[in-house]
Amino acid sequence: MLAKINTCALLGIDGYEVNVEIDISSGLPAFDIVGLPDSAVKESKERVRTAIKNSGFSFPVHRITVNLAPADIRKEGPAFDLPIAAGILCCIGAVPSATIADYMITGELSLDGGIRPVSGVLPMVYKAMQCGIKKCIVPAQNAQEAALVKGMEVYPVHSLQEMAHFLHNPHSILPFVVDLEEIFRQKDKTTLLDFADVKGQENGKRAMEISAAGSHNLLLIGPPGSGKTMLAKRMPSILPHLTFEESIEITKIHSVAGLLKDKSSLINTRPFRSPHHTISASALTGGGRIPKPGEISLAHHGVLFLDELPEFQRNALEVMRQPLEDRSVTISRVNGTLTYPSNFMLIAAMNPCPCGYLGDSERCHCTMNEITKYQNKISGPLLDRLDLMVEMPALKYHDLEDAPPAESSQAIRERVLQAQQIQLERYKNEPIFFNSQLSTAQIEQYCVLGTKEKALLKAAFEKMNLSARAYHKILKVARTVADLDHSEPISAKHIAEVLQYRSLDRKYILS
Ligand SMILES: Nc1ncnc2c1ncn2[C@@H]1O[C@H](COP(=O)(O)OP(=O)(O)OP(=O)(O)O)[C@@H](O)[C@H]1O
Ligand SMILES: [Mg+2]
Repeated sequence: MLAKINTCALLGIDGYEVNVEIDISSGLPAFDIVGLPDSAVKESKERVRTAIKNSGFSFPVHRITVNLAPADIRKEGPAFDLPIAAGILCCIGAVPSATIADYMITGELSLDGGIRPVSGVLPMVYKAMQCGIKKCIVPAQNAQEAALVKGMEVYPVHSLQEMAHFLHNPHSILPFVVDLEEIFRQKDKTTLLDFADVKGQENGKRAMEISAAGSHNLLLIGPPGSGKTMLAKRMPSILPHLTFEESIEITKIHSVAGLLKDKSSLINTRPFRSPHHTISASALTGGGRIPKPGEISLAHHGVLFLDELPEFQRNALEVMRQPLEDRSVTISRVNGTLTYPSNFMLIAAMNPCPCGYLGDSERCHCTMNEITKYQNKISGPLLDRLDLMVEMPALKYHDLEDAPPAESSQAIRERVLQAQQIQLERYKNEPIFFNSQLSTAQIEQYCVLGTKEKALLKAAFEKMNLSARAYHKILKVARTVADLDHSEPISAKHIAEVLQYRSLDRKYILS
């Protein structure tokens, strides 16, 4: 007897079709799984055997061979349990074989025959849909996630027995439906942290606005308690709302990572990830034996916040250089490579010196040597990718007490949206979307300066001893400042504002 069950597996954030072929023939009792299974798939044998027995079926005492096709890709994880069990039940006649080919089946079994949720159901169901399968049987806890795929009939099951009963009586379970539009609209109701809570720190807020508008990576420098973390956390509130496609993409990544809350609905707000500085390079970029998306992929379409930047391990920071450029990360493994998207905005924060109070002669006793060592922990190439560096001074009492009501995130977001619209229009024939992505050649084309502006930049360049790197960054950021001002030419006023942020060059060794 031979049975074939459709299922899907994961490669990066995409699913691929897997056919589970089960053959039961006479011979000495044996249970073999072939088709490049990893150890979790091999263990599936024990779970399937026990779950079938504990669900009241008799496990066949014959020679059972399971093939996971295509046989040249390694199969990982426990999601093959349910398709294998379904195939065996089909072979022994416990479920009808006529209709089972209409379904995509996935799920992990527990020994009592219960069905446990698995990671990556959304991309798997997506793939099944693309392969023309219209119905799927998934663990009940993954039903919400699976139902995000339009046009797929999702049948949630809690146990092996329930699945067998359903296959005999297809009307015993109703397809699980979610109102996609309604879930997506919920995003307007989610309250994000608001810029209105931040008193003073006008420079910092303005830098956040410029960063959001031009998608520039940003470094905040300031003493402890000046509000760096507070500002960074508010970034998602001034970025544009997610589109539906972006939402699905983020949800897929979180699904593969097994991080969907309650294994449920769509992620409809921009991610804000702030990993601790002890994080390893592979946790940041993704990896592991069964590679999972790292923090930079979980921050896709959102913000990655690295607080206390110099405390991060140097190699962890270095591995981010390529993904920052490519907006995706490629993980090489023994049998192939995986690519996860990682289009995120980087915000970093640091203290100016080991104690944090540089410039305050009463509190700071750091030696020049210590300060240099601390600031040098961040490599030049990484700094290269941070377009804006802003100092956030310690707040005075009156900043907190007498501050006028601050502007809301909504008002800032309006300006950001308009500036982004200008960029989308300008770069419609280029492969880029934002000013931060301008190449050196494009900078010459799109950031043309008049004589007055050139003179101002030249004077600053010589006086502040700026590097070529700084020069290009100033032009890119000035382009964004001009866009926020709805001005096509970059004027002296815009250059002057950007130069004001470069004052850090003299105070710190960073440039
Ligand atoms: N500008 C501000 N307006 C209102 N409250 C503020 C401001 N700055 C700081 N605070 C208060 O101080 C607390 C600490 O701020 P925050 O954690 O952002 O500081 P930080 O600069 O990240 O410090 P550290 O370097 O220690 O991480 C905030 O939770 C908030 O209560
Ligand atoms: Mg902080």
